[in-house]
Amino acid sequence: MNILDVIKNRRSVRRYRDKSVSNELIEKIIDAARFAPSAHNDQPWKFIVTKDEEKLEQMSEDSKYAKFLSSAPAAIVVCADYKNSHQREGIYDYSIDYFCIQDTAAAIQNILLAAQGLGLGTCWIGDYDEEKLSNLFNIEDPYYPVGIISLGFTDKLPGTPKRKPLEEILCYEKFEE
Ligand SMILES: Cc1cc2nc3c(=O)[nH]c(=O)nc-3n(C[C@H](O)[C@H](O)[C@H](O)COP(=O)(O)O)c2cc1C
Repeated sequence: MNILDVIKNRRSVRRYRDKSVSNELIEKIIDAARFAPSAHNDQPWKFIVTKDEEKLEQMSEDSKYAKFLSSAPAAIVVCADYKNSHQREGIYDYSIDYFCIQDTAAAIQNILLAAQGLGLGTCWIGDYDEEKLSNLFNIEDPYYPVGIISLGFTDKLPGTPKRKPLEEILCYEKFEE
């Protein structure tokens, strides 16, 4: 499939066909995450896969805008690793935090696109309680959860969300309103 088709056809999928998705497919998807760019090539990420019904149910209960998690066959909890960065000299902490989030966001986007290319639906979820999620998966400092991705075969494809037109977001040479 053409890369632009993969990008443009991806949707946030919140309804899944059944409860099955193989580890083989999941591993292909996480493997694609490894190829995301990261500042200093730090690769400050860790991916926790869950298919556990009780955990998915708990994550659903703990959120307001991701209730559908309980019906997803799997979810990936993406964690940022702040450890390497904080030990590096000469770089301010704020830029470390900033890089960590950008690096993990790039990895998440790779996951969404790889899943799309392999025929799976995903939704990037930001609505979670950091403490509860960390407790559920034993995530401890210096790791922090930065997102959840639900994953499965698409049951119902949502409509195409409105996009800002190119003219509104693109300028050449200098910033223009
Ligand atoms: C950082 C981030 C957090 C998000 N959190 C949620 C969420 O908690 N629940 C949800 O249903 N969708 C969530 N989404 C998905 C967005 O709602 C979705 O990407 C947006 O509406 C555009 O739709 P599309 O992904 O189908 O193009 C999130 C997306 C991002 C990037």
